[in-house]
Amino acid sequence: MNSEKNPKDFGHIKSFVSQRAHMTPSQKDAYDRLMPVWGIPYENRVLDLETTFKRQAPTILEIGFGMGETTLKIAQARSEDNFLGVEVFPSGVGSLLKRIEEHNTTNIRIIQHDAVEVVRDMVRPATLAGVHIYFPDPWHKKRHHKRRLIQPPFIELLASRLLPGGYIHCATDWENYAEQMLEVLSASPLLDNQFTDYAPRPDYRPQTKFETRGLRLGHGVWDLLFTRNTTPNPATLLMEK
Ligand SMILES: C[S@@+](CC[C@H](N)C(=O)[O-])C[C@H]1O[C@@H](n2cnc3c(N)ncnc32)[C@H](O)[C@@H]1O
Repeated sequence: MNSEKNPKDFGHIKSFVSQRAHMTPSQKDAYDRLMPVWGIPYENRVLDLETTFKRQAPTILEIGFGMGETTLKIAQARSEDNFLGVEVFPSGVGSLLKRIEEHNTTNIRIIQHDAVEVVRDMVRPATLAGVHIYFPDPWHKKRHHKRRLIQPPFIELLASRLLPGGYIHCATDWENYAEQMLEVLSASPLLDNQFTDYAPRPDYRPQTKFETRGLRLGHGVWDLLFTRNTTPNPATLLMEK
């Protein structure tokens, strides 16, 4: 079935296109050796985070980590937290695996799959301490806006996976997408904005590659920081029935 025709499936039009399968030899080498160590295969089955990370610690989900430079820096600075990185493109996965090995990092796990399906199928409601979505593809053209990741059904799903007090932190260098993010996140009954509108960049988020490029092109950068409130979690209620 064509997933574009099933709007109930979280408006699940893919936020990425299937290309860029190419990996450099060193990314491929890291991918082949290290994916069995740090990778988690996508399955339609809820993931036990304590077993996955071999410890009990707050878990942060990062969606679309690109080449993983930010992921690594944050995971190093916040070694007391677990980081679950989700990215579709093999070159990015190979690149983050290389960094994990070079820096002996042990608090990152990777799922190479569509994050919408990972959140829907593998993340238990009310379990995440935070979500990072940095510089998601802006899909500039209006007719492509439906491909943007930050849409009401996905944000509701994501918010249902957060612990009360857990946060969603987004950043973009595309003003029109920043406005959409603010509108969608503000409309969620499960989320509260921690600021009046946009947030200052938190100290833990280093400048990313896409951000550097955006700044060079004269774009602004907008951060958004929302936290999960105590409104009953619809997903948990559903599971308790
Ligand atoms: C513009 S890049 C930003 C990368 C990185 N966060 C940064 O700031 O440098 C967006 C990334 O999101 C990934 N992506 C897009 N949709 C995704 C999805 N549904 N699931 C997982 N990754 C996705 C893309 O493959 C791409 O690497």
